[in-house]
Amino acid sequence: MTFAEQLINWRRELHQNPELSGQEVATTTRIRHWLESAGLRLLPYPLATGVVAEVGQGEKVIALRADIDALPIQETSGVAFSSHNDGVMHACGHDVHSSVILGAALLLKEREAHLSGRVRLLFQPAEENFTGAKALIKAGALENVSAIFGMHNEPGLPVGTFATRGGAFYANVDRFVLRVRGKGAHAARPHEGKDAIVIASQLVLALQTIASRNVDTLDSVIVSVTRIQGGNTWNVLPESVELEGTVRTHRNEIQQQVEKRISEIAAGLASAFGAHIEVEWFNGPITLINDDKWAAFAMQLAQRVGYRTQTSELHMGGEDFAVYLQTIPGAFVSIGSASEYGLHHSAFNPDEALIEDAARYFATLAEQALLEK
Ligand code: NI
Repeated sequence: MTFAEQLINWRRELHQNPELSGQEVATTTRIRHWLESAGLRLLPYPLATGVVAEVGQGEKVIALRADIDALPIQETSGVAFSSHNDGVMHACGHDVHSSVILGAALLLKEREAHLSGRVRLLFQPAEENFTGAKALIKAGALENVSAIFGMHNEPGLPVGTFATRGGAFYANVDRFVLRVRGKGAHAARPHEGKDAIVIASQLVLALQTIASRNVDTLDSVIVSVTRIQGGNTWNVLPESVELEGTVRTHRNEIQQQVEKRISEIAAGLASAFGAHIEVEWFNGPITLINDDKWAAFAMQLAQRVGYRTQTSELHMGGEDFAVYLQTIPGAFVSIGSASEYGLHHSAFNPDEALIEDAARYFATLAEQALLEK
């Protein structure tokens, strides 16, 4: 069996046996077994799921991170190795990321005697619910680590393509809930109520002015209402309407500006219509900020080993890797996976041809990063 076949087999075994965030028990057992069989040292962190291993000797430590969790999606890709777990699917390609970092681990084990330090391999659980990175850091996985690298496959890019960028990359992902409380009334006597549906409608449109009229057009921002709930029949004006939505930004100043404007608009409309509007804000994943130096380093190496490289666009989605980069420098990169269907789609089907090259790339990246100051 070739190296590529080995990695593809592992990827398919993970793909057939996907597990949700925080429940990656069998996945953890598999990865532990494969790493141990290849002679890697497992570090005894007290983790419910997830694996941390190490290779090499010495003071300096570089970390490589893969995520291992799947999504609550019923697979429709039709591949022969489709999910055996009903309603659960590796629809984000974390099985691919895991096999890439497993491959890098094997290659680094072969070069162990020549490494100028240690490479720590993080197989992180619970990326999709943004709790895994925090858990690994709490367990001590970043101790003595001077830089960390990770990847996401990019279905929109051809295999052999590599993209990253210095600075902000993935977005702050925040959520809000607005509760409009007016006064219910008979549909025949609207003047006796304060129609929560009319107020909520004004609110939806007013929120659109935050992106179009408050934030600099050159800054990235999304403000979307994604759920409206109110009323339960045709002849009653409901007392209350609940709205929920999301805000995506890359700069914390903009994030704070948007949060403040939502509150101001809600208060203003509540006052104008004599209603009450309650605003709840939930901070989600933080913006992912690549270190300029390490992003350039990763890009140059990618070019040197034969990838077509490009500066990545900003992503409006979130990525838990951001939490590591809040603590230590490093870079997150995109590698083309050429899937007709995108991430989190039930027919997502990344091209496995990316795996071997990416494994070789990450092994060399860690090896080279150990030589940097
Ligand atoms: Ni993902």
